[in-house]
Amino acid sequence: MAEFDVIIIGGGPGGYVCAIRCAQLGLKTAVVEGRDSLGGTCLNVGCIPSKALLNATHHLHEVHENFEKMGLMGAKPKVDWAKMQDYKQGVIDGNTKGIEFLFKKNKVTWLKGWGSIPEAGKVKVGDDVHSAKNIVIATGSEPSSLPNVTVDEQVIVTSTGALTLPKVPKSMVVIGAGVIGLEMGSVYARLGTQVTVVEYLDAITPGMDAEVAKTFQKILTKQGLKFILGAAVQGAEAGKSGAKVSYKLRKDDSEHVLEAEVVLVATGRKPFTQGLGLEALGTEMLPRGQIKTDDHFQTNIKGLYAIGDAIVGPMLAHKAEDEGMAMAEILAGKHGHVNYGVIPGVVYTTPEVASVGATEEQLKDQGRAYKVGKFSFMGNGRAKAVFQADGFVKILADKETDRILGAHIIGPMAGDLIHEVCVAMEFGASAQDLALTCHAHPTYSEAVREAALACGDGAIHA
Ligand code: NAI
Repeated sequence: MAEFDVIIIGGGPGGYVCAIRCAQLGLKTAVVEGRDSLGGTCLNVGCIPSKALLNATHHLHEVHENFEKMGLMGAKPKVDWAKMQDYKQGVIDGNTKGIEFLFKKNKVTWLKGWGSIPEAGKVKVGDDVHSAKNIVIATGSEPSSLPNVTVDEQVIVTSTGALTLPKVPKSMVVIGAGVIGLEMGSVYARLGTQVTVVEYLDAITPGMDAEVAKTFQKILTKQGLKFILGAAVQGAEAGKSGAKVSYKLRKDDSEHVLEAEVVLVATGRKPFTQGLGLEALGTEMLPRGQIKTDDHFQTNIKGLYAIGDAIVGPMLAHKAEDEGMAMAEILAGKHGHVNYGVIPGVVYTTPEVASVGATEEQLKDQGRAYKVGKFSFMGNGRAKAVFQADGFVKILADKETDRILGAHIIGPMAGDLIHEVCVAMEFGASAQDLALTCHAHPTYSEAVREAALACGDGAIHA
């Protein structure tokens, strides 16, 4: 039917950002999206709704934990779950409609329906077949399954079902102490649910700097989450009034069973590429199900590209967005590029946890000489004023050159603070460059500067 310069399959953060940039660069662009709203997993059933629930329950936690300490006395609010769900839906709608507006503003065509690629250069949506000089697959990911665990999205749920439970459960078992498990576990723990997190490894949040992970676990434990580590879940079975989860402790192979009203399976995600017709096209795939691409996101088929969760790399919305922008530039004949060494990761709990670059463990493995500048939020006036002085900032710098190699923050607004270090790293800055930058007082970001100072002659308030 219609002919486009670019058709992008998938309207999530990778796809919609790519589309807007393609259109801005003068390419005739369409996005195929089968959901009723744009924004993909992130806006509809991921990042955005979970942040709404984290925000609401954070305030609830504040009322219960800290209001009286500040002289704010009186009745505690009751949770109206239906109203909280309405608030969450309003946040989703506001954001997804915003993308629709941006599509109109930039003249991006939304082809409604699920797309497939019958042959190179063609995209089929419903009964229509469209031509495109370039096709970009941005179909994202879906929750990965666990053997002997059947998800019904009622009693045994993924992150999608966990966002829309009919009521706040009395108890919940979370399988997997990754980002989803801890964010959603925090939401329900703050609402009064007894949350038990069962994790295969001996630490929470795999890949996170070990010192941060340890502090994080301590803080979450204080908030009421229970952790069973070194435990491999063997299966989960839904019954009439809840579910049973069986697990084996790795240290002695002993078998145990937990019961809970709801079970959240949060054991990772996998690329979502079914139904595209990739096999028939002869698209090369990687062993873990990702689409294989070259450095310019091109698959083994000319004119067919892939970005975001469907290819290798961290499954993060902002990584997909960066790839979307770089992809558009490449298609417009420019030099799109993603700096994979400076992609931050954030866990939106209270406190927030954020990191960028190498962890101490990675630097040790690489045999690299490094120095550590650490500063506790105990020495930060703003953090103390908001009862969030438990965490710290840690900056890792090259021992010889002082170049910043990584940063790890657990504390208030860590997800925003980390970007000061990201920018510094992007510019190849040294810890001293950060330390010499004047930081307003009193701000949380002074803790970042103090950690940078600690890489040199020492922090002031330590
Ligand atoms: P994850 O990969 O972060 O964590 C999964 C955890 O499950 C791991 O710790 C793993 O050891 C554990 N596990 C696996 N099998 C198990 C078993 N049989 N028994 C016990 N434990 C088991 O996956 P998660 O949390 O599901 O997140 C999926 C993706 O979504 C990740 O790539 C994450 O980065 C992304 N995401 C990012 C967010 C953010 O940036 N704030 C928020 C939510 C998701």
